[in-house]
Amino acid sequence: MSNPVCLVSGSSSGIGATTVEHFARHGYDVVVNYNAGRERGEVVADRIRAEYGTEALLLGADLSQPAAAFELVDQTYAHFGRLDVCISNSGVANYVPDEDGNLLRYRFKDTPIDHLDREMERVLSLNLMGAYRLGQRALHYMVEQAEAESNRGEAMRHRSILFITSISDIAPESTRIPYGVSKSGLNHAVLGAALDGGPFNITVNSLRPGVVDTPLTARPSGIHDPADGHEYTVAETYGLMAEGGSQPIRRIGTPEDIAQAAYAFSHIPYMTGQFVAVDGGLTLAGSFANRDVFLQEGLRLREQK
Ligand SMILES: NC(=O)c1ccc[n+]([C@@H]2O[C@H](COP(=O)([O-])OP(=O)(O)OC[C@H]3O[C@@H](n4cnc5c(N)ncnc54)[C@H](OP(=O)(O)O)[C@@H]3O)[C@@H](O)[C@H]2O)c1
Repeated sequence: MSNPVCLVSGSSSGIGATTVEHFARHGYDVVVNYNAGRERGEVVADRIRAEYGTEALLLGADLSQPAAAFELVDQTYAHFGRLDVCISNSGVANYVPDEDGNLLRYRFKDTPIDHLDREMERVLSLNLMGAYRLGQRALHYMVEQAEAESNRGEAMRHRSILFITSISDIAPESTRIPYGVSKSGLNHAVLGAALDGGPFNITVNSLRPGVVDTPLTARPSGIHDPADGHEYTVAETYGLMAEGGSQPIRRIGTPEDIAQAAYAFSHIPYMTGQFVAVDGGLTLAGSFANRDVFLQEGLRLREQK
């Protein structure tokens, strides 16, 4: 019997790299997918082969391009002859740089039309369309395998598709709406795929990370240290906020936190069509939980009047 096979898009970095390694540790043959980071992808694939002895097939694909996601899944299936878990993880944040390399952050109401169109094209073509196509093609092969099992009189194995979305699907930040739109749009694709997959023992879910320490959150945040003026990264900003009580688990996430959840969610045969936050409770900690912070700020503003 061959090893089960897991494809993780965007597994040359961050959450994807740790997730693909986690599956290999549990005996999966895997596809390590990269776009710009071929060398990083090679390091991940080499480590998997050396440490876990399972197969790691390295495949490049720019999933923002229309045919690329189909080709990636086709290549996976042609090579291994099976697909058990597909994790759509590739993603970019919005914020394109200006000529000097500074990230542009426009609030929703202020975004110029040409900037909006460029950002939407960049973010949606990967985060939404690339992921949509990847899930669609993976489901196609998974259904085919289930039908073949059924025709042979065998039980259909449990297979799963997981979309790494974000708590930004419902937690808005005014300069990051294109990103949130891409992730909330994807949630609807999860519902469609779950409906079609269920009869074939295929579960489809959305894993919604909170803030995780990866290269994505190493970008500048636009927020500065009041003491020395240096600009915090996104990870530093949310790390400080977590220490200050913005979330009940008082640290931001690690890629391992998400990889563990991705592995667990992919092995729950009776959960499908769900959007589950893995965020240390960040989305719990709103106005009620942080009453003291807002109360103190209200009092401070009143005193200023
Ligand atoms: N980090 C967080 O706080 C956080 C929170 C919520 C959700 N997420 C989501 O988690 C996922 C992974 O993010 P991360 O933090 O691990 O980011 P990351 O370290 O920047 O990794 C992003 C991955 O996506 C790949 N990618 C980028 N453009 C691509 C393209 N055009 N085609 C194919 N792959 C492409 C990258 O490949 P190359 O490097 O090879 O180009 C890389 O492997 C994303 O979907 C992100 O939205 C992250």
